[in-house]
Amino acid sequence: MKIPLIKPYINKEIKDKVLEVLDSGYLTEGPVTREFEARLKDFLKVKNCIAVTSATTGLEVALRALNIGPGDEVIVPDYTYPASASVIAIVGAKAVIVDVDKENMAINFDEIEKNITTNTKAIMPVSLFGFPLNYDKLNEIKKKHGLYIVEDAACTIGAEYKGEKIGNHADITVFSLHPRKFITTGEGGIITTNNDDWAKWMDSYKHFGMNMDGAGREGVQFKMIGTNYKLSNILSAVGLGQLEHIDALLARRIELANNYKRIISSVEGITLPQIIDKKPNCQHSFQTYAVYVEDRDRVMQEMRAKGIEVQIGSYSLHMHDAFKNSPLVEIKGNMGNSKWCYDHALALPLYNDLTFEQQEHIIKELKACL
Ligand SMILES: Cc1ncc(COP(=O)(O)O)c(C=O)c1O
Repeated sequence: MKIPLIKPYINKEIKDKVLEVLDSGYLTEGPVTREFEARLKDFLKVKNCIAVTSATTGLEVALRALNIGPGDEVIVPDYTYPASASVIAIVGAKAVIVDVDKENMAINFDEIEKNITTNTKAIMPVSLFGFPLNYDKLNEIKKKHGLYIVEDAACTIGAEYKGEKIGNHADITVFSLHPRKFITTGEGGIITTNNDDWAKWMDSYKHFGMNMDGAGREGVQFKMIGTNYKLSNILSAVGLGQLEHIDALLARRIELANNYKRIISSVEGITLPQIIDKKPNCQHSFQTYAVYVEDRDRVMQEMRAKGIEVQIGSYSLHMHDAFKNSPLVEIKGNMGNSKWCYDHALALPLYNDLTFEQQEHIIKELKACL
């Protein structure tokens, strides 16, 4: 493709950091991962930050930390990546899938309240594409019904709500470090929580269930059955290298997003979801710049034929066999809005090196397709 959808930010410093780790021989999770977590903690201004192998494993660990399992229900939106609902079934609980709002692609609050039962233990809202949710409203529902909020913030690192970074508004928040995300380690995830007990449990669980008091190998006690979701020093070095530039990378994304908005404003036939608009004191981190267009599939094929890599937005889970056929999934309603978002959303190229000229070219070609 002449213009790819994404291009991870990798420079010489980052390559050198990785080589340093390779030369050190300390390849598993270790001090580089600790430093990566500490630096992220500072950036997000959260009490606890735990690196894991992906957002998917992070969400699983989060649900387990809250003791969510068989007999419990978790409410999750239909318009999202499959991992959001899969992890609920993976821990043995039931994923109750509800519709989203068309305007902002986020979980619909009435649908949440309508589907709360005595078995509901948590809500898993998804802050899709980098857009912060209405956490005041979510926390009101949480308090009213005595639920947990586990936020799937896979796409949302760097975003802010009321001046505070995402990672602080849910009981537990999980970010992805996949290469389509704002900063990446290739594969990886980050869990944040301001609850020290949960953090301690999650850190131990992903380290085979061992006590993490630093007593040395002979002093290790395996306190519970755990697993291995450690993020290696090698991948953490990539993340650490990227963190050095996180403010500049974020600023550039916002600049490019604003420029898309400016160019698109004079083009008929392209609708911007409300998520593209900046709300007071909220900052979208623009993991994805998605617009709505009619006849999306044809437009997507034609854009690709022109050498411009565009992509669908996200998935409508109710359309997939995995969710239609599982006894651990309940699909509530006809998912009209989710299907509409699925049919209309088109993700445009967005990465640090993208130029304003390329953006003009992308929108000119998109206009021609429309
Ligand atoms: C909303 C959402 N949740 C979860 C995931 C899974 O993230 P990971 O690939 O880090 O497991 C993704 C990945 O794109 C996502 O977009």
